[in-house]
Amino acid sequence: PAATTVKISHCSDYRGKRVKVYGWVHRLRVQGKDFMFIVLRDGTGFLQCVLTGRLCNTYDAITLTLETSVVLYGTVTAVPEGKSAPGGHELIVDYWEVISKAPGGNEAISNKVSSDSDPSLLYNQRHLVIRGETASSVLKLRSYTVKAFRDYFDSIEYMEVTPPTLVQTMVEGGSTLFSLPYYGETAYLTQSSQLYLESCVPALGNVFTISQSYRAEKSHTRRHLAEYSHLEAEAGFINFEDLLNLIEDLVCSVVDSVQKHPIAGPILKQLNPNFVPPSRPFLRMEYKDAITWLNEHGIKKEDGTDFVFGDDIPESPERQMTDAINRPILLNRFPGPIKAFYMPKCKDDPRVTESVDLLMPNVGEIVGGSMRISTLEQKLEAFKTQGLKPEEYHFYLDLGKYGGFPRGGFGLGIERFMAWIADRYTVRDCSLYPRFPGRCTP
Ligand code: 4AD
Ligand code: MG
Repeated sequence: PAATTVKISHCSDYRGKRVKVYGWVHRLRVQGKDFMFIVLRDGTGFLQCVLTGRLCNTYDAITLTLETSVVLYGTVTAVPEGKSAPGGHELIVDYWEVISKAPGGNEAISNKVSSDSDPSLLYNQRHLVIRGETASSVLKLRSYTVKAFRDYFDSIEYMEVTPPTLVQTMVEGGSTLFSLPYYGETAYLTQSSQLYLESCVPALGNVFTISQSYRAEKSHTRRHLAEYSHLEAEAGFINFEDLLNLIEDLVCSVVDSVQKHPIAGPILKQLNPNFVPPSRPFLRMEYKDAITWLNEHGIKKEDGTDFVFGDDIPESPERQMTDAINRPILLNRFPGPIKAFYMPKCKDDPRVTESVDLLMPNVGEIVGGSMRISTLEQKLEAFKTQGLKPEEYHFYLDLGKYGGFPRGGFGLGIERFMAWIADRYTVRDCSLYPRFPGRCTP
């Protein structure tokens, strides 16, 4: 009978029918000379395929290697009780062909998890590693998660925009800018689309973007990438409390839709069986109380002294605190000097700003946000202290000139969010082809 070409994810709709399936040999087991099992992978899933008799005795069958691409014809059959197979069915093959042979030898690479091998070997072979079960599950989960972020913003009627990533302004400090020659001038790879999002609010209302951001980080940590996917949002006429609620609602709603999704939910469960969705409300903790917490728990600065108000809280103490508290923390009201130039002072305490970081157990900061200074005078003053040239920021200054308005927004690192929900040790495993110091390939 004629065979319909199907993707593995749709095979369950074809039980008892003859189908044609394309894919790669993911696993191979030869049993005697008349039995061969192939686990076929086509990107949409895995299918156990059974080859018997003369199908196993051909030259192609005897020399078959992992990652060879093949086409298989056969009948989708429910597996008998007590036998397990992905999807609860297998393909009883009646004809097959090799499309293109793989050399074998490095075959195990596609099934390796990055923690048990030399990481630099695995990053060199990332194009093969992503064929593996764990790496591809993380990337699939990421795809559904990004879609859930978009759906969330759609549901609250934010417009999606695509700001440029080649820029001539800095947002998060000059020390992490990548610069490049640009038609005889200097340009930078953007650190954040924030200033552009701010400029969109009077034009489009509330906006968001999922764009690449770049940081020439000197830190080789498990949560820093040189290039990352940055979800950023900006809202007009909100106050600081609204901003905190928005971040909380976004995170909870997206976790909820991912967990309930028929495909993403099971992937999440398999990658992170102990995942507990965060409960609302998130703990709101002021920076000054975090300093007190660190002192009360004997956590010291690198030089052995106590943290004092005004100190930046580095990654390690921040992680110790977040892991000990073991729930999401909206850490807020940081002192101005340790935060970005665009953050306004709190009206009741000018030593601190309307700023917030969302900290997650095991990962640390996944969101950074704040209200924004909005008047021309505030901006010019901030530029003076930072040594920024106002003429390079004319579009940003004009926002204060042509109808300044209260606003706030935030940025969320997609890879950090993924490391949190999928329980990955490093954000590098949540990036398709991670970029970090010493690596810009493949
Ligand atoms: O805290 P950051 O630097 O804030 C901003 O860029 C703001 N302009 C965002 C805004 O308000 N629109 O970065 C925001 C988030 C961090 O919380 C972190 O999740 C992620 O971006 N991030 C990185 N992720 C991976 N590698 C890096 N080097 C990152 N730097 C920041
Ligand atoms: Mg930050």
